Amino acid sequence: MEPMEVNLVDQDFYARRGAPHDQFRRLRANAPVFWHEGDAERGWPGFWAVTKHEDVVHVSRRSDLFSSYRRLALFNELPDEQVELQRLMLLNQDPPEHTRRRSLVNRGFTPRVIGRLEEHIRDICRQLIDEAEQLPEVDFVRDVAAPLPLYVICELLGAPVEDRDKIFEWSNRLIGSEDPDYAASPEEGQAAAMEVYAYADALAAARKEAGPRDDIVTKLLRPDDSGEVLGQDEFDLFVLLLIVAGNETTRNAASGGMLAMFEHPAQWARLVADPSLAARTADEIVRWVSPVNLFRRTATADTEIRGQKISEGDKVVVFYGSANRDEDVFDLPDVFDIARDPNPHIGFGGGGAHFCLGNHLAKLELKVLFEVLAERFPDIRQTGAATRLRSNFINGIKTLPVSLRP
Ligand code: HEM
Repeated sequence: MEPMEVNLVDQDFYARRGAPHDQFRRLRANAPVFWHEGDAERGWPGFWAVTKHEDVVHVSRRSDLFSSYRRLALFNELPDEQVELQRLMLLNQDPPEHTRRRSLVNRGFTPRVIGRLEEHIRDICRQLIDEAEQLPEVDFVRDVAAPLPLYVICELLGAPVEDRDKIFEWSNRLIGSEDPDYAASPEEGQAAAMEVYAYADALAAARKEAGPRDDIVTKLLRPDDSGEVLGQDEFDLFVLLLIVAGNETTRNAASGGMLAMFEHPAQWARLVADPSLAARTADEIVRWVSPVNLFRRTATADTEIRGQKISEGDKVVVFYGSANRDEDVFDLPDVFDIARDPNPHIGFGGGGAHFCLGNHLAKLELKVLFEVLAERFPDIRQTGAATRLRSNFINGIKTLPVSLRP
């Protein structure tokens, strides 16, 4: 292979251009399991970059070989004092501990439980665009894409309307963004986490006092058939995970999806003409945008991926954005096709234990949002350049000025 310049972590590149698809393409063709140098100055260790769909699926499914422990730190290591607490978080756990915990929270996110929210989500979408219509200038991110998942999460948690702004602010501080517009110091992020834990304690106490309701907090606090129940710390961390995982991802899928429509007007016209394509549109948006760009694992033993030797303790990073354009899996992978079928994208993870708990919810939110938009504002148009988030983790859009009318 010709020597090639590879830098999959340069935050400024992501801020300027989005995910580095040219590099992904060359890596898939020439070095699908590539040793990526770390950044000593920033304390980032080197890692194996895994870019093919089949390999991302393999790493995701073999939690015995690729541990999720300490993965939240992405590249840099967590301070020791946070490790024990973070270990209680689902994302950082391995089976069998993860399996028990995951089955407790699954109860709140089954397709049946989530399906019941459809009309409610439609009302939220309508309310948001009614409000946006009154504004002199509309920023699709601020006025539509960000509040939608926020309102839905608040509803799931039974949080009162007046708490929405506070939860939104926590979510932004917690993501620990490298973007100067959102940047929070580690201390601020930690303080936000503490506030979320106190808030979750209060939510749990209030629900216990007021008695059960038909909401997720009630489901999470109730012991399952074998008497297992989440501890208070685990409940607090789960609320924190929901606030982060449920907000940023769906926000960026919605705004990245809208931008993709502006860049591919024929696809938008197709959806306007046939809104029954909205469910497939939601999947294609998640494939195209891949709002979560990567996650990290650690090898638990000497092993191999595609013949490449991996040593115990090596960091392995899976790139969903690359896997979702893998030419061995998708016909015309660089074409945005809202009716793509089949669409075996892995934007919600490569399967296995950690597959996104919120995938039904996220798809429902996207489906309903794009149905409502296509019906109400077929002539929606972009009125200024989009700005991108400075992050190699979340493929995000910060602002997207639009006009709802011609
Ligand atoms: C895990 C993506 C929306 C909750 C994940 C993972 C990915 C992901 C890639 C990790 C999978 C793995 O490690 O194998 C996305 C995308 C979303 C989205 C692209 C939106 C388009 C949501 C929503 C919620 C949610 C709306 C909650 C309401 C979670 C949780 C986990 C998770 C709790 C951890 C599951 C575990 O460790 O067992 N998501 N997600 N996500 N997601 Fe999502």
